[in-house]
Amino acid sequence: MKIAVIGTGYVGLVSGTCFASWGHDVFCVDKDIQKIRSLERGVVPIYEPGLDELIERNSAIGRLNFTCNLTEALKGAAIVFIAVGTPPRAEHGDADLSFVFAAIREIAPLIEDDTVVVVKSTVPVGTGDVVQKIIDSARKAGSFSVASNPEFLREGSAIRDFREPDRVVIGAEDERSRRVLTQLYTPPLAASNTPIVVTRRRTSELIKYAANAFLATKITFINELADVCEQVGCDVGELALGIGLDKRIGTSFLNAGPGYGGSCFPKDTMALLRTAQDYGVALRIVEETVSANEARKRRMALKVTDALNGDVDGRTIAVLGLTFKPDTDDMRDAPSLPLIETLQRFGARIRAYDPVGNENARQLMPDVKFHDDAYECARDADAVVIMTDWDNIRELDLTRLKRVMRRAVLIDLRNAFEPGLAEKIGFRVSAIGRAA
Ligand code: UGA
Repeated sequence: MKIAVIGTGYVGLVSGTCFASWGHDVFCVDKDIQKIRSLERGVVPIYEPGLDELIERNSAIGRLNFTCNLTEALKGAAIVFIAVGTPPRAEHGDADLSFVFAAIREIAPLIEDDTVVVVKSTVPVGTGDVVQKIIDSARKAGSFSVASNPEFLREGSAIRDFREPDRVVIGAEDERSRRVLTQLYTPPLAASNTPIVVTRRRTSELIKYAANAFLATKITFINELADVCEQVGCDVGELALGIGLDKRIGTSFLNAGPGYGGSCFPKDTMALLRTAQDYGVALRIVEETVSANEARKRRMALKVTDALNGDVDGRTIAVLGLTFKPDTDDMRDAPSLPLIETLQRFGARIRAYDPVGNENARQLMPDVKFHDDAYECARDADAVVIMTDWDNIRELDLTRLKRVMRRAVLIDLRNAFEPGLAEKIGFRVSAIGRAA
C-alpha cells in the first residue's frame, strides 16, 4: 500500500518508518527542505533509540522516501497521515491547530478518489469534522474519508510502542476508512492479538487526551503519596508495589519523582481542560493534577536546599540528568528547568551533565557549566542531584563519586540508588517518598 505521512516530527518520522518496515511504500513529506535533505542522507533530527538504523535500512531498499513534493507523495496514496505538531497556544493553553489546517488545505486539492485522510496529530474533539469540511469545500467531486488514529508512543521506546502496542485506536465515520485502517494494522499485529478499538471519530480524538490525562493523574497520585510516605516513615516503592499488584491499579507509571514533564502530558492536560471549559464541564481531577505537578516541580529546589541545611548560597550543585526522562534529548517542560533556575536564584552554582541532552539544555540554561562526564561534573560539588535516571547514571560508582565531591550529599529525585547502600558509602541521602 502507498502511504503518505505529512510532517517529519517525532510521530510522523517514527510512524512512517515503522509503516515502511511493515512493507508499505512510504513517502514522508515536510516543508523543511534542509530536514528532508538530511533525512535523505540518513541524518535523523531527533534522538530515538533504533530509529537511525530503521530509517537507513528502509530507505536503502526504497520503501521509505523523503520529499517536499506533495504531488509526488499523494499520487496513488491509499492513506495520508497528518502528523504535524499541535503545540500549546501561549495565551490559552489549548492546541494550536494552524499546522494541521494548513496541511489539510494543501493536500485537499491533491487527494485522489477514495483516499483516507487520517489525523494522527493529537487534536481536540471535533477537529476531524473541521478537516472534513475543509476538504469538502476544496474538492469538486469524488469521495474521500477522514479518520482519527491517535498515537501512544513514548519517547525513548517509540519503535517498540509502535510495533507492540497495547491497543490501536481507530476513529471512523464510514465503512471504507474503518476497513482500510483495520487492514493496515491487523496483519502485523495479529500474532500478538493486539486489540483494535474502533470508535466514532470524536471518541477516538478524546481517547488520546483521556489516556494522557489519566497517566498524568496516576503519576501525580503516587507523587503526593510519596510526600505522605516521607512524613509518616513509609517507603513509596513498596507502597507502589503493594497497590500496583492489584490488577485494577497496575504497577506501571507508579514511579514517584520530581513531577512529570515532556512535550505531551503538560500540553495535553491543558488542552483537555480547555475543551472541558469550552463545553462547560468541570474536570476537577485534571485541574488538580496540573496544579499539583507544577507546584511539585518548583518544590524540588526546596528539597535540595533542605538537604544542604537550608542554604545553597555559594554552594556548588551538580545536576545529573537534564532531559524530562531518559533515552531522549527532549528538554520540553523538563523538571530540571525550574529546579536549576530556582537554585540559581538562591545563589547556587550549577554544574550539569546529561548523556544526550547537554546540547538542547545549553540553549535554555544560562550560567550553567556543562560536562560530558558525570564524575567530572560532580568534582568539588557540595551536593549531587539525580534528576533523570538514565541507565549510565543509575550505574554510577557511588564510591568514586563521593571521592571527587567536596561534601557527600545525594539528592536522589528518581530513587535511582538504594539509600542504605549510599549511606554506607558515606552519603547523606535525601530521596523521594523514603523517610530520612
Ligand atoms: C507520553 C505517553 O506515555 C505516551 O503514551 C504518549 O503517546 C505520549 O506521551 C504522547 O502523547 O505523545 P512521553 O511524554 O514520551 O509519553 O513520556 P512518558 O514515559 O509518559 O513520561 C512522561 C513524564 O512522566 C516524564 O517526565 C517521566 O519522568 C514521568 N513519569 C513517568 C514519572 O514521573 N513516573 C512514572 O512512573 C512514569
